[in-house]
Formats: sequence, structure tokens, C-alpha cells
Amino acid sequence: ADEGMWLPMFIKRLNQADMQKKGLKLTAEEIYDVNNASLKDAVVQLGGFCTGEFVSSQGLLLTNHHCGYDAIQSNSTPQDNILQNGFYAATKADEKKNPGLFVDILVRMEDVTGKMLEGITAATPEAERMATIQKRQRETAEAAKENGQYVAYVRDMFGGNEYYLFIYQRFGDVRLVGAPPEAVGKFGGDTDNWMWPRHTGDFSMFRVYADKNNKPTAGTQEGNVPYVPKKHLPVAMQGIQEGDFAMVFGFPGRTQRFLPAAGLQLTLDESNPARIKLRDTRLKIWKADMDKNPDLRLQYASKYANIANYWKYFIGQNEGMNRLKTVDTKKAEEVALAQWIAQDPARQQYAEALPAIEEAYKTVRQYNLSSQYVNEGAFGTEIVTLAARMMPLAGALKSGDKGAISKATEALREPVKDYFKDYSAPTDQKVFAALMNLYMQDVPAAQQPDVFATVKKQYGGSMSKCADYVFSNSFLTSEAKVNAFLANPSLAKLEADPAYKTYQSVYSNYVQNIAPKVQAAQAGLARANRLYVAALREKNSQKVYSPDANSTIRLSYGTVRSYNGRDAVNYNYKTTAQGILEKEDPTNPEFVVPAKELALIKAKDFGRYADKDGNLPVGFITDNDITGGNSGSPVINGRGELIGLAFDGNWEAMTGDLAYDPELKRCINVDIRYVLWCVEKLGGAKHLVDEMTLQNNGPNPG
Ligand code: ARG
Repeated sequence: ADEGMWLPMFIKRLNQADMQKKGLKLTAEEIYDVNNASLKDAVVQLGGFCTGEFVSSQGLLLTNHHCGYDAIQSNSTPQDNILQNGFYAATKADEKKNPGLFVDILVRMEDVTGKMLEGITAATPEAERMATIQKRQRETAEAAKENGQYVAYVRDMFGGNEYYLFIYQRFGDVRLVGAPPEAVGKFGGDTDNWMWPRHTGDFSMFRVYADKNNKPTAGTQEGNVPYVPKKHLPVAMQGIQEGDFAMVFGFPGRTQRFLPAAGLQLTLDESNPARIKLRDTRLKIWKADMDKNPDLRLQYASKYANIANYWKYFIGQNEGMNRLKTVDTKKAEEVALAQWIAQDPARQQYAEALPAIEEAYKTVRQYNLSSQYVNEGAFGTEIVTLAARMMPLAGALKSGDKGAISKATEALREPVKDYFKDYSAPTDQKVFAALMNLYMQDVPAAQQPDVFATVKKQYGGSMSKCADYVFSNSFLTSEAKVNAFLANPSLAKLEADPAYKTYQSVYSNYVQNIAPKVQAAQAGLARANRLYVAALREKNSQKVYSPDANSTIRLSYGTVRSYNGRDAVNYNYKTTAQGILEKEDPTNPEFVVPAKELALIKAKDFGRYADKDGNLPVGFITDNDITGGNSGSPVINGRGELIGLAFDGNWEAMTGDLAYDPELKRCINVDIRYVLWCVEKLGGAKHLVDEMTLQNNGPNPG
């Protein structure tokens, strides 16, 4: 299909005819309607980072295993390791709480561009424009919250050429209902991650709870009951075929399809290599310790998976940018755009855009490594992130305000408990030594924090000696010591702590010497980008652009579709359980298949989930345009039935967030029949399948 993560409110105007041609049978109102139940009411944003969908009238929610991973790990102990063994709640009383986890359900969205830009002209100074719009964004969102009843925000689209208001209900009681064993939910591990063909049962189940009036609560509350959604998705049992219509509804996080060539170039030759190097270093240290100690393996499982996911993403993105010549393509587009601008005096308003972008990127490039090494280096070290969390308390201690001090202290209790539950100081010490050393070596001398001068003077330049000192003397290495500090907090003690001092040095250097320069360049870039995007849309006025993903609700549509990966290689559109047997490797933890699953597959015990050839369907691909944040999104057929869950993208199109290639980009999905088979046959939890609305209305439209 074509590129596009569309705002559901515009489906009727922008895409309906094309969608119908591809097989959509629903009306625009059945997809998005503010007043009546529509598909949008079945789709939720999970925890701000993933998507989920209701599949029962009792608030039962499906999402990916990798989206539920942190909740699954947090509810695991070495004695009751549900991450490893899987888990299905036998009754609602067995469902597991997840403090802090929430879902947002869209109430409505609104185009507020006119309101944001009223009175602003091309002559309005940039700083004034920014301040005015920010104030209006805040006020508009505040009014829409209706005294805290809703969550609301205004997001800009197309580089600040348009603005939209989003209003949600936020439910803070989301309980874990089920998950397959990790060997199923993460089958193929990092080796298969970002790749097709795939055999991962990437799903987990939650339930949303509300108060007696079906209204959201801030956290888990006594007396809460399963939420009754306005709409839940029926499940299609008939399965999929190449060419079937497919749409994906969800919350894609971030794309940068309007990133200029200079930005792409910087990503390619500096940002991605730095991120890859720092993550590679951190992952190797973690893995060595995880392999030695099963308890530590469980503690670091979720952190490891998160860092590894985008480590491989950055590698794939760079490989793809080189292979597909992404920078050259963008450069050629910019040359054509510059010519178009020069052709007509009326386009003079855009003339400053491209030169200003070049100029701004010179500055951004000068400070880019510092930014990367602060984020992925210093903050790649856990103790530095804990030190950073002490900042508000330090502020309160400075003010001497007793109320503020006790508030800041209390606010740290839960985070500190969470932090130490999954923390190993000896492991983190190795990470500190390695990452801070790379930071010291790789960042330009003039941009280094003072702490490195101390390392040179006091430890002869040895970061590992410095790490020894920090970890032997900091109170931030142990929960007992941090709690003792919180019982009697003192500014002097905090400021004398070597880990806190390290953080302070990195942070103040960044705030004083790096951030102001980068921010000034960014302000120039904001204006230039806005003009650049406006010019591009005017030049290509026959093309309908969709705005870059920004964690707001979107719909993408396409079809079930195979692809040619490279010369002579064609990838089929679906996988089956046969492939699980082919990949099985009891000696490789990423490809272990649980004994029960092996037995069921070998016996072809697929029940009602078998396809017409008697195989068990596992995964399939569509040409929907998605990105991270869409994980867990429902894949819906032309009648509005659930056919799968989106969970990944393919290796050949890892540049997809920067440039869309319709021939190569695919969305990787787990077939809903595999999900249900895992729950019922493998997990023995038929009661959960029975909650859903299974139906077979014949072949999918398309
Ligand atoms: N690449 C997937 C995504 O970001 C996440 C897959 C998680 N699986 C894993 N093996 N780390 O959507």
C-alpha cells in the first residue's frame, strides 16, 4: 500500500475510496465516530509506549509479549518465574496488579490549527510565535481536561504547520491476565528480531478495571470491576490470504520522514555508530553477568531486551541507509525543491529554509557526540540515572522548606524500591567503567565535564580505578544506604557522594556548555523545517502526505502481501508451526521450544485453529505502514474483525522511519489463530478464549 499513518478523523475525506477499493466494507463512522461506538473505542494506548485492543466485553485486552514484558518480569520471582513459564489467571482474583501501568482511550480529537495560529504571521518573530503557541497549547489542553476528568494535549503535525487536540480517558488499573512462556513470546530472540520469516508468539493479555460506574481510577482500587468497553473486536477464525485487506489501528511513536539530508547524514555517520558502540558495550557486560547468574538474568531481562531492540534497529537502519542510498535520494529531492522555490517569486517565502537547515546542522553536528554520550553513555549507567532522580530532593533541601523536603523524599520511596529490585551494583560498576571511559575518549576535549580532569589527575586516567572509588564510597549503590539517607536527608551528604558528583559534573557541563548551543540551533531548525515541509507539500500538491508519527492515534491500511527481499529471494506472506520445528535448537536459548509445544505440534494437535491444509498458522505480513509504538496493534480485516497483532518490521526496510519504500516495507504480525492456540491448547486457558467473540464469516474481503 501507500505510505501513510492517517489521522482517523480524516479517513472519510482522504482515504475512504481507496480503502474500499482494497476491500474495506466498514463506513467511515464505523471506524471513527465521536458519538457512537466505533473501532477507535476498541483500541488503547498502553503505558504510553504500545498499543492494545479490547477483545471482550469485560475489558480483556490483547497486546504484544514484548509490550507486556516489563510487567511480566516485574511479577516474576526466581520461585515463581512466570516470564519463563508463562501464566494464565484461572480467575479474575488471580490477575496481577501493575502499579504505574495505564491505558488511554481516545474520547475525541480536534483540528485546532486555526486557534493555535490565530494572529500569527510570517513576520511574527520566532521566539514570540513559539511562546504564544505554547501558551495556547497549554490553555487549550487544560480546558479540555474538564477538571481532571480527561487527559488532554495538543500536538503539532507537519513541523508546526498544523495542530491537533487529543482527549483521552486514562485508566490506571491494568492487570496482567496471561502470557505464554518466554520461549514462545520471544521465540527467536534478538537473532530473529526485526526479521521475517518469524515464528514468535508475541502476545500477552491484560484486563482494564474501572470503578462501579465504569469510570477510570488513578491506580488499582478496592472494589474496582472489569471495564466495559464501548466496543470490542470480534475475532476472525477463517484466517488470511494474500491480497486480503488489512488495517492497523494504533499509536505509532516516531517517524522522521521529513528529516532533511543533513539530518540523515548525521544519523548515518555519527549518531547511530555512537549509539551502537555504547549499547554493544553495555549489552556485552550485562550478558556476561546474566549468563553466570539466573537471578541476575531475570533482574536484567527487561532492560536487556529494551536496549538490544534498538541496538539492532540502529544497525539495520545504517545498513539500509547505505544500501538504499537514502541520503542521496533526499539530497536530490532538496535540489529539486530549491529549483522549484527559485522558479517563482511567490515562493520566495521558502527560500531561507534549505540554507538555514544546512547552517543549523553545522552547529548540531559540532555538539552531537556530547548529546549522544550523555544519553547513551553517562545515562546508560544505572547509578547515574539514580543520582539524577535525587535532583528534586536536592532542590528541596536547598530551599530548606520542610514540606517540600518530605514531599520529595516520599516521591522517591517507590522508585527506589523498584530500582533496587532489579539492580546489581557489581554489574553496574563494570558498565560505569566502560561507558564513562568511552565518553572520556570519544567526546571533544573542549566539551568534557570536569569529572574527567579528576579521573586524569587522581586515577592516572583509569576509569576503572575511578569506578572502584565511586562504587566503594557512594551510598547510591545499596537500597539500605539509600533508605538510611532518605530517613535523614542532608544536602551535604548528597553533594559529597561520588556518584552524585559524577552526575552533577556531567549534567552541569551539559546544561551550561552544550544545551544552550544545541537549543539555539534547534530553534532555527524549527522555523526552517516548518517552511521546508510547507514548501514540499505545496510543490507536490497532488500527493496527500500523512503527518509523521508522534504517539497519536493513527490508522494505516494495505493488504496481506509477500515481498522480494533481494535478488532471487521472495518471501512468502505467512509462516506455520512447521517453521518452529525447523528453527528449534535445544542448545540455543533463543530457539528452545517448550516440550509441550513440541509435542502438540508434532501431533498436529491444532484443533479449530488449523488452516485448511491442517497446519497451524503462526505469522503473516502486510504492507501496512507502522513503526514502534504500534506494537500490539490490532490487524483488522475489511469487516472489522481481528486477524492478528502487529509486532515488528522487516530487516530490508529498517530505514522505514526515515524514508518509506512500498516494495520493501512490511508489517510483521502474529496470526490471531496462533495466539488463541497458545492460550487454549498450550496454556490450557480456554476460559479466556471463551470470553472473546469468535466468528467465521467466510473469506476476508479484499
Ligand atoms: N522489534 C520489535 C519492535 O520494536 C520488538 C521485538 C521484541 N523482541 C525481541 N526479541 N527483542 O517492535
